[in-house]
Amino acid sequence: MPPSHSSVLLRRNRVVEIRRSETLFEVSHVYAAADDLGRALHRVLEMLERHHDALKATFVFRDPDGDELRIEAGIGITADGMRARYKVGEGIIGRVVQSAKPIVVPDVSHEPLFLHRAARRRSLEGRTISFVCVPILLGRNAIGALGVELELQQDRDYEELVRFLEIVASMTAQAVRAERFAESERRRLLDENTHLRLELKERYELSNLVGNSGPMRQVYEQVAQVAKTNTTVLVRGESGTGKELIAHAIHYNSDRARKPFIKVSCAALPASLIESELFGHEKGAFTGAQGRKKGRFELADGGTLFLDEIGDLDVATQVTLLRVLQEREFERVGGTETVKVNVRLIAATNKDLEQAIADRTFREDLYYRLNVFSIFVPALRERKTDIMLLADFFLSKYSREHRKSIKRIATPAIDMLVSYHWPGNVRELENTIERAVLVCDGNVIHGHHLPPTLQTAEASGTVVAITLADAVAKLEKDLIQDALKSARGNRARAARLLGSTERVINYKIRKYGVDCRRFRR
Ligand SMILES: Nc1ncnc2c1ncn2[C@@H]1O[C@H](COP(=O)(O)OP(=O)(O)OP(=O)(O)O)[C@@H](O)[C@H]1O
Ligand SMILES: [Mg+2]
Repeated sequence: MPPSHSSVLLRRNRVVEIRRSETLFEVSHVYAAADDLGRALHRVLEMLERHHDALKATFVFRDPDGDELRIEAGIGITADGMRARYKVGEGIIGRVVQSAKPIVVPDVSHEPLFLHRAARRRSLEGRTISFVCVPILLGRNAIGALGVELELQQDRDYEELVRFLEIVASMTAQAVRAERFAESERRRLLDENTHLRLELKERYELSNLVGNSGPMRQVYEQVAQVAKTNTTVLVRGESGTGKELIAHAIHYNSDRARKPFIKVSCAALPASLIESELFGHEKGAFTGAQGRKKGRFELADGGTLFLDEIGDLDVATQVTLLRVLQEREFERVGGTETVKVNVRLIAATNKDLEQAIADRTFREDLYYRLNVFSIFVPALRERKTDIMLLADFFLSKYSREHRKSIKRIATPAIDMLVSYHWPGNVRELENTIERAVLVCDGNVIHGHHLPPTLQTAEASGTVVAITLADAVAKLEKDLIQDALKSARGNRARAARLLGSTERVINYKIRKYGVDCRRFRR
């Protein structure tokens, strides 16, 4: 007996049902494994085409910040069709997105709302086409739609089809949500990263290290070498060369950059206070110690402790400091609890530590502890090419600060700046330029805006920096030496040559410390 029409239908529906569950299972897999959402969308549409009679299928998404809809993935449509655009509310798809409700059009040829924008790849002449469109919902809002065209079949259960497509759409919504989250997270991290780097750079720039002379470049190289390590650094150099700036640069170029940079000026603190400053104290440790106080070592935990003027530390404190450096732990003054800290140490001094060791004012063992990596900051006179860079830098800094519009430094003034020996180094140059900016009333710095110390005879062509008495003495000494030379060291003859007496000449020889034996050949 041939199977009845209804039993055929039942079996067919059963097959469709199984196929749909298989597809849903696969779709969830595709989305879970996807690292490219676009490709995953396409694969899902392929499944609809292969197993669910779709002649044409599209995923349409709404622009995040507009009311335009664009096709993200499509199957069964031409390349041109892929570029079709819809507006929310326009056509069937536009209405599905707007209302967030599915629409079924049994015969698109009788539906004036059907726009035929995304042209089909194949001509389906003679066939009646149905269109089923379901919204892709995130919360209550539709972020897009899934549209499928199929051949009209009278016995197709469109309600069941819509339910199936709605599940596909809901899985799609989750995949989109995950991707958007990942994308925004990625962007957030990227932004944060850029921001952090900028901040660090600004901080480093805040330290404003100007100068590109050979010796300074060597210093920058050393900073770069040592910054990322935890090595103790000893920064040496004359006063005003920029040791503190170097210490900053090391800190802000290290992994500790976001942790504190704590400075202790060893010279500014009386010996009686320095231990409690460095290590803190417990309540009542000494008169006036009213509460427990954290020392600079503890405050710097995780970051950098900068011990400035280390050469001025008194010997007793040197002993304690040495112990901390060896064991990385200490007790607060008046306390018994041992405190452990993770601190990177940078020390600076303009003292001759080797001489201090010889004089027994600086402990040799501490010296070796600190002198792991030394950076010598060269004196300004040893890097003359930096003078003008620094001068220009300070000129614009102080012009801005004092609201002046000074544009440049005149050539004679430049010569004075460059030929001066700058015993006070960059700090002295900085003060000189600030002073010049203050006294300058035009927009050019001239020689007379610079302090008297820079007004040498060669620069101004006037002043002789020597007293009359000194000049006369120098001349006298030269004349006596010349006479002694001619007289081969014979004082009586030299006196005659000079038209003077032997007694006077003898007196002057003693006064000027002239060695007569040198002239006896
Ligand atoms: N390379 C540089 N670029 C710009 N400014 C600098 C530079 N070097 C030093 N300065 C400036 O010069 C001044 C002195 O620098 P700093 O305090 O770092 O010197 P120092 O070596 O620690 O001196 P001291 O031994 O007297 O403490 C600061 O105002 C600093 O900003
Ligand atoms: Mg200093």
